[in-house]
Amino acid sequence: MTPREEPADRNLALDLARVTEAAAMAAARFQGRGDKESVDQAAVDAMRAILDTIDMDGLVVIGEGEKDDAPMLANGERVGNGSPPAVDVAVDPVDGTRLTAEGMPGALAVLALSGRGTMYAPGRLVYMDKIAVGEQAAGVIDLDAPVDHNLDRVARALGKDIDDLTAIILDRPRNQPYIDAVRKAGARIRLIRDGDISGAIATAVPDSGIDILFGIGGSPEAVTAACALLCLGGEIQCRLWPRDDSERDYANEAGLDLDQIIGIHDLVDSEDVFFAATGVTTGELLDGVRFIPNGAETHTVVMRSKTGTVRFIRAHHRFDRLSKITSAYDGVIQG
Ligand code: FBP
Repeated sequence: MTPREEPADRNLALDLARVTEAAAMAAARFQGRGDKESVDQAAVDAMRAILDTIDMDGLVVIGEGEKDDAPMLANGERVGNGSPPAVDVAVDPVDGTRLTAEGMPGALAVLALSGRGTMYAPGRLVYMDKIAVGEQAAGVIDLDAPVDHNLDRVARALGKDIDDLTAIILDRPRNQPYIDAVRKAGARIRLIRDGDISGAIATAVPDSGIDILFGIGGSPEAVTAACALLCLGGEIQCRLWPRDDSERDYANEAGLDLDQIIGIHDLVDSEDVFFAATGVTTGELLDGVRFIPNGAETHTVVMRSKTGTVRFIRAHHRFDRLSKITSAYDGVIQG
C-alpha cells in the first residue's frame, strides 16, 4: 500500500452500487429521446444526490466534461459526506451518453474509488492511445510493439490462434490504422461506436468473447478502466494523445510526458480500488435498466481490487417506497 493511502475498513464498492444504479435509472429515462445533455444531466444529478449520503471524503480526480462540455461532476469537486476514508474518485455518469440518447446498446453508469492521491490526472489532454487485455494475457502486451506482435503474444498467452482472437476498437477515423493492422494480422474485430470503458473491461471478463482492446479513446475512461482492470487482474497501457500543437504546448507546460507509456499502476497507484458499473442500455457486459410498474430493475457489477471479489447485482427498486425516504430519486420517479 502506498504511504498516502488510508485503508478502507469496508467494501465501498457496495455503496457505489447505489450511486451507479440511481444514475443508470435516471439516464435510462431519456433512452432514445435523442437528447444527450438530458441523459448526462439526469445521471449527474442522481449520482450527486446519492454520493452525498456515502461515508467518504471523495475528491473527483477524473470527472467528465473537459471534452464535451457535459454537465459534470467536475475535477476538484468534493463528494461524499466528508467522513473518512479520503479517496480519489473517477466518475463517468454515463459512458455512452450518445448510445443512450440514440437508444443503442452498451451504455454504463460508472464510478471508481482509490486512495487519495493515487489516480493519474491527465489534465486537459482528453485522449490516450490504449491497449488492454485480461488477466491471462497481462504482462505480454507492449503499446510500442506492432499490432501483429501484440496479437501473436496474446494468442499464445490465451492458447488460441490469431484468427480466433477478437479485438475491440472504438470506431473512429483516428483508429483506422489499428483496424487495418488487425485485419492484416487475421484477427476478428468488434467495432464499437462508444464506450471503451466497457470495451476494456470486456477483455478481462471470461466468456465476453473479447480478447484485446486497441485504439485512441478518452483519457478519463482510461483511468476508470484501469480501476476495473486492477480488480479483475488485467492490464492496460496508454500514452497521451494530443490533438494539436496547443495540447502539445499544454503538456510541456504541465510537465506531462507525451512519450511515456503509462502503465496500469501509473494510472492508479493503489492497492485498494473499488469499482461499480450499472447498465443503462443492454450491452455485452450488463443488461440495461428495465422499468416495471412503479419501479425498475437494474444490473450492476461491483469489484474490489484487494479481495478480487466481483459481484453481479440484480436489483429491484420500488419507487413508492424510495420516494418516502429520499428526494434523490425524484428525477427517476417522475421520469
Ligand atoms: P461519453 O459517453 O462519456 O461522452 O464517452 C463515450 C466515449 O465513447 C468513451 O467511451 C470514449 O473513451 C470516448 O467517448 C471517445 O471520445 P470521442 O467520442 O471524442 O472519440
